[in-house]
Amino acid sequence: MKAATARACANIALVKYWGKLDTELNLPATGSLSLTLGALTTTTAVRFNELLAEDTLVLDGRPAPAERLTTWLDLVRAHAHIDTRAEVTSVNDFPTASGLASSASAYAALAVAATAAAGLDMSAQQLSSLARRGSGSAARSLFGGFVEMGETHAEPVDSAADWDIRMLVAVVGGGAPKSVSSRDAMEHCRDTSPLYGAWLDCVPADLAAARNAIAARDLDALGAVMQHSALAMHAAALASRPPVRYWRAATLAVMDAVDAVDGAYYTMDAGPHVKVLTAASGARELVKRLRAIDGVTHVIESGIGGPAELVSAG
Ligand code: DP6
Repeated sequence: MKAATARACANIALVKYWGKLDTELNLPATGSLSLTLGALTTTTAVRFNELLAEDTLVLDGRPAPAERLTTWLDLVRAHAHIDTRAEVTSVNDFPTASGLASSASAYAALAVAATAAAGLDMSAQQLSSLARRGSGSAARSLFGGFVEMGETHAEPVDSAADWDIRMLVAVVGGGAPKSVSSRDAMEHCRDTSPLYGAWLDCVPADLAAARNAIAARDLDALGAVMQHSALAMHAAALASRPPVRYWRAATLAVMDAVDAVDGAYYTMDAGPHVKVLTAASGARELVKRLRAIDGVTHVIESGIGGPAELVSAG
């Protein structure tokens, strides 16, 4: 088999991954726990082609730099004992220009497609470990529902098919200075923030609380621990020297709006956008409120997504 196409969903960490144990192997310093989002997907096609001198990448219809891709594909080539270069075409069904993180769904879809195209038969856990080498958060996008990242790979926690919850993604745009990538920011935070150690210390208890809240289908408990994890991560980043501050005025305006609503909880990653966890019943009304906030360019409503899957092969 020389070609394959796969699709994977994005995920949002409820208990964040923020810091590495090993940069070379991209091993996380702590566990993390996420929700896979059905509304944000990446579809990636990989074709190994003997005629190519270099790997090529086309991202949302445009040629893109392939260095990071080549480093990652070298892992697949080593496993498969091949030396063939590949053409990779990747399409996001959400605007990449919006600054929403896409590396999670991208490396998860790539892991499924590239290994299938290279003729490798790997378990979901092995694929998760391979995706981690591209991006830590991508290890979680191999699975659907709630997913927990361990030392090397992620495992599914609960598909939560019976739980009618939504994640609203409020995209904050306009006038934001160029933000620091999560990869660079977490290293800088470890090196310079006096709160980095305290942040790491929070994670085990937050993971346990999140697991319990999921098992009990307790949205308020899950929302509370999700907010705590995000605020602790951002507090550590804010205390770095120089500081890393992702929040814009509209980020805080969304946080204020969410605080005013019962049963809605926020989380933020390495950007100004706010993701809001809420019950499906109140989601539509909340989407309207968030859309009305100055600086919010659009709001995506997502249900729970499924595992990464092979779309076609051969
Ligand atoms: C804030 O997975 O982008 O979104 O492993 O260096 O590629 P690398 O980092 P990445 O970091 C994600 C950080 C986060 C929190 C999270 O998704 O857990």
